[in-house]
Amino acid sequence: MKKVYVGMSADLIHPGHLNIINEARKLGEVTVGLLTDKAIASYKRLPALTYEQRKIIMENIKGVSKVVPQETLDYVLNLRILKPDFVVHGNDWKAGVQREVRQRVIDALSEWGGKLVETEYTVGISSTILNKALKEVGTTPDIRMKRLRRLLDAKQIVRVLEVHNGLTGLIAEHTSNTKERSVEEFDGMWVSSLTDSTAKGKPDIEYVDLTSRLNTIHEILDVTTKPIIVDGDTGGLIEHFPFTVRTLERIGVSAIIIEDKVGLKKNSLFGTDVAQQQDTIEGFSEKIHAGKQAQVTEQFMIIARIESLILKAGVADALKRAKAYIAAGADGVMIHSKEKTPDEVLEFCKAYASFDQKVPLVAVPSTYNIITEKELADAGVSVVIYANHMLRSAYPAMVTTARSILEHGRSYEADAQCMPIKEILELIPGGK
Ligand code: SPV
Ligand code: MG
Repeated sequence: MKKVYVGMSADLIHPGHLNIINEARKLGEVTVGLLTDKAIASYKRLPALTYEQRKIIMENIKGVSKVVPQETLDYVLNLRILKPDFVVHGNDWKAGVQREVRQRVIDALSEWGGKLVETEYTVGISSTILNKALKEVGTTPDIRMKRLRRLLDAKQIVRVLEVHNGLTGLIAEHTSNTKERSVEEFDGMWVSSLTDSTAKGKPDIEYVDLTSRLNTIHEILDVTTKPIIVDGDTGGLIEHFPFTVRTLERIGVSAIIIEDKVGLKKNSLFGTDVAQQQDTIEGFSEKIHAGKQAQVTEQFMIIARIESLILKAGVADALKRAKAYIAAGADGVMIHSKEKTPDEVLEFCKAYASFDQKVPLVAVPSTYNIITEKELADAGVSVVIYANHMLRSAYPAMVTTARSILEHGRSYEADAQCMPIKEILELIPGGK
């Protein structure tokens, strides 16, 4: 019996997949190399189904003898172990991000005289089309909530974009950029208190209350499927925090980040220009603990945000607090800084790397944004948040347009920087 290898993501199974398996079984005994979440996340969006779910499906498909994990997009490692006579794949990978992967398969097979067999692409159905349909159908609170932990497992660094309403939610959901070897997207959304407050014309001092924040969050939940991290400010009173945790968890938010400050909260980027008081380690640890006790599932995350660098208390204090907050049950640590360079954050990361007990590290490079995602990931950061960029880019554009109308006594000159009317009419489907 000849050996046949089929590499697959097998996320949303459709007749195109079955056609490939069918062609493969005509050639011999079929082993499916099932791409792990990690392998898929290295070049495109995380699949809807987990590896275990996808494995069960593949094992039960007629003609599949065995399912093995394929840990990378690259086939070569598995191929050299199994030395198949054939690899079968749809002919749709000749162009695009998988072009190089295909060439490496051909080269590896030639080492033992194996052959690549390509089947005709099944027209009219593809994972891309199904994924689009799935996005329109939406998600459930439970699936969305758990997705952040899956992303943390699968990706070197999870990329999160600020959102403050339904429209910015749609931008985070749908914006993508095709690169040489991958299609890049945002993995999740940050509901910033700075931009949620600013969009409402209010200062960022915890005045916009949870009821109002929930309205914003619901607007975003309504039109997106990606996971949400909520800026929880100080978490409020310790007696109130458990209620906040339960509410967010129930509606499908994945994580809340709370900062170790007390009293009237001011935005961290003011640094020491305004009076801000850091909580005691004991006080904040107690708050984390109260939140952890309140959550219903294992998956919801409470992330402790350390303000020591903002308040000029130093890296040593930040590290001491990180240790204590992890011991208190924090599921993640956010280290914040408002310096122009990433030096102090990198110093923190370096020391953090040697901690025995580690949780995912979150960074918010707003001022030290010279640093790249790759550099943050190399330093051990697991989540990067672009915390305010949708609102900061929208506001100047709107003011320019308003001024132009005043200047010219008409809107004609502003047209150049406005989207065409036809485009805005069709931006949100269902309006016609
Ligand atoms: C926010 O976006 O509200 C934040 C991040 O908390 S920062 O503004 O940098 O404090
Ligand atoms: Mg904030």
